[in-house]
Amino acid sequence: MASARGEFGSRFGFVMAAAGSAVGLGNIWGFPTQAASNGGAAFLLVYLVLAFTLAYPALMAELIIGRHAHANAVTALGELSNNRLQRRIGRTTGTLGFIVASLILSFYAIVAGWMMAFCLSSFATVFGGDEIASWLTSFGFVRNELGTLVFMGLTIAIIAKGVQDGIEKWSARLMPMLLITLVALVAYVLTLDGAGEGLKVYLLPDFHRALSPDLILNALGSAFFSLSLGVGTMLIYGSYLDDTQNLPLVGGLVTAVDIGIAVLAGFLVLPAMYVALHNGVEIYTAAGELISEDTLIFTVLPGLFGTMGLAGALVSIFFFFLMTIAALTSSISMLEVPVAYAVEEHGVNRRTGAYAIGGAIALVSTLILLNFDSLFGLVITVTTRYSQPLIGFVFCIYVGWIWHRDQLLQELRKGNPAIERGLFWKIWPWWVRIVCPTIILAIFGQSLLG
Ligand code: PHE
Repeated sequence: MASARGEFGSRFGFVMAAAGSAVGLGNIWGFPTQAASNGGAAFLLVYLVLAFTLAYPALMAELIIGRHAHANAVTALGELSNNRLQRRIGRTTGTLGFIVASLILSFYAIVAGWMMAFCLSSFATVFGGDEIASWLTSFGFVRNELGTLVFMGLTIAIIAKGVQDGIEKWSARLMPMLLITLVALVAYVLTLDGAGEGLKVYLLPDFHRALSPDLILNALGSAFFSLSLGVGTMLIYGSYLDDTQNLPLVGGLVTAVDIGIAVLAGFLVLPAMYVALHNGVEIYTAAGELISEDTLIFTVLPGLFGTMGLAGALVSIFFFFLMTIAALTSSISMLEVPVAYAVEEHGVNRRTGAYAIGGAIALVSTLILLNFDSLFGLVITVTTRYSQPLIGFVFCIYVGWIWHRDQLLQELRKGNPAIERGLFWKIWPWWVRIVCPTIILAIFGQSLLG
């Protein structure tokens, strides 16, 4: 079966694809603004600790299940046990995973469409098309729908091409581009007046805010979303890895890139906010908190770019281009989850599957756009706040409690014969068995209560 499936051609290709999935809108605007309003470097520290103690072990659980089964999440979880009930729960969890992945994509494509529209709008500004530029940045159904459809079209086109020619090839092209654009933007913004103030806010730790229990749980949730956990994305990418790869090492690389880019994005967004303040753009809410999330991206930053003339339009093009790339390498990983399932379990042709499922998801996006006020926030909450941690919990339980320890060891030995003697094998098995599920339950409990 493994030979008929796609497979990543190189370790670099895999790391770019998996890091591409992980690095998304969450990293570039979620992380920096959270850090800004929650204690700067102290939040960063909490985030780093959580990423390595929770997200990395949970990522490993998905990669290992995927690589072992060389199959999609439904088949893979169904195969881990001989017990009928456990098999059924496994298959149901896998099924829920691809439904959640599809729903996440349905709102993600809308947001990514806005990013593309803002990027094009700045192009239009440069070439004097002010009317079209302002249409592209104003909230309306036609603009939203067009943006979503174009973005979904790109996602579908890549997934239709398969693992090596689609996912790997495009991730290996887009991720270096993303890094170069990000570094260039950071370097430029740091030269502007006011940037130093933002750096201070980002880098001076205020432990008082960062250590509140509420915030720690929040940071946990973001770390989870940020590494694309709890929907079967990392599981399916792991299933395309060959048996010679050292899993703890490649998982570590992916985690490091994800965190590295989030931290780097902090050096762009925070200074940019204070440059905006310096140029007269409002960056605080009435309650005195820093403006964040959608208002930041679609009001404050464009406000800043608007005060900078031609340079601002160029920076804006690069910034929203960066956002679009980050979103695209994530969205392909979301679409791959249901497509892989349809191809493997139902013998659907990959191209047909990609177009049909992508089309169906675009239809869901349209429904969301038609009922924006009631559906948009709801879909985000249900998928990212509730479903992701819960499915991630089941993954950890399957690896920690249901899968036989000897088989786990055998799987890990494939790419690293000396694994038993290393620190990873001494800590990770009980960590994923006890610590991860406990922490995830805590997040989930908090979500339910809060
Ligand atoms: N990790 C992506 C981000 O930070 C989001 C994502 C979630 C991607 C789930 C795939 C699956 O934006």
